[in-house]
Amino acid sequence: MITEIDFDRIPRSALPGLLARAPKAELHIHIEGSLEPELIFALAARNGVALPYDSVEALRAAYAFTDLQSFLDIYYAGASVLLHEQDFYDMAWAYFEKAARDHVVHAELFFDPQTHTARGVAIGTVIEGLSRACVDAQARLGVSGALILCFLRHLSEEDALATLDEALPYRAHFIGVGLDSSERDHPPSKFARVFARCGELGLHRVAHAGEEGPPAYIEEALDLLKVERIDHGVRAIESPALMQRLARERMPLTVCPLSNVKLCVVANLAEHPLPQLLAAGLAVTVNSDDPAYFGGYLNQNLQELFDAQPNCGARELYQLARNSLEASFASSQCQAAWVSALDTQFRQAAAAPAALTRSD
Ligand code: ADE
Ligand code: ZN
Repeated sequence: MITEIDFDRIPRSALPGLLARAPKAELHIHIEGSLEPELIFALAARNGVALPYDSVEALRAAYAFTDLQSFLDIYYAGASVLLHEQDFYDMAWAYFEKAARDHVVHAELFFDPQTHTARGVAIGTVIEGLSRACVDAQARLGVSGALILCFLRHLSEEDALATLDEALPYRAHFIGVGLDSSERDHPPSKFARVFARCGELGLHRVAHAGEEGPPAYIEEALDLLKVERIDHGVRAIESPALMQRLARERMPLTVCPLSNVKLCVVANLAEHPLPQLLAAGLAVTVNSDDPAYFGGYLNQNLQELFDAQPNCGARELYQLARNSLEASFASSQCQAAWVSALDTQFRQAAAAPAALTRSD
């Protein structure tokens, strides 16, 4: 018989070590948002791209955002240094090295092809570079990676349909599609046809909704786009009926705490609604969104959230890690193996809490 994990025996002091070592999945990272300023400058020099900033420090100093759009303007400018297959590889490889250190066992990377094709970069260049990094991450780091192609919602549905057609020769290299960029005034309904087509193609479907947009956008993403996960979704907290539906359907919400603070979606981490969403039975996961811009990768998001939320303890940490593994699009065999490793860690922590120290 499988014994229950006695979470109450795990002291708060054990959380940093547990958090660092627990197997986790990253389900919401825009790979272009992992471009650190140092890599932006290195790629700009390699490719002869002029940047409107004199130094790494000047670029970092510009990372003071007031809302989503103020961030997106800088984020798209940063991506302008990506031209060649090797650039996309280097960006994704740098991310995978950090993910491995965070004990991320599986990462589903969003990428924005239209940001690159609009500058004359072939979609194959983007996908082949990222895909090669995924193959190497599995072989050299033991991290499994998968790609999710995102449509930019500030552009038209025709543009999204054309992008899908361009990507189809590389269908084997991506597992699904998403919807990102400026949410306000760009409801999910605008993309109903392209998402229906993606469904016919057997692609997984996810969408950003309820980050800055209203709860009705979350409902549209569910009803019209037939998504399997909601990215962000924190504004669900404003609608009790929607909260009940999300809990009933065990619809995963890929929440990004540091992002929400940096983009002024919430005032600070102490006021973040994640604990309420979790307590209401929603399948919440913690993710990093655009870690190079928002101050941290997955473990940093978890650590800062737990530091700010005294009611989040070992039970919540276990639930978040488990949700991330089970909400992934990895095979059920992989999920079961990771959950079993997670269970072992928490069971050992409950049996010998004093043995735990913080370490990577
Ligand atoms: N693209 C990159 N980060 C994003 C975010 N947080 N919301 C919407 N689109 C994005
Ligand atoms: Zn995002």
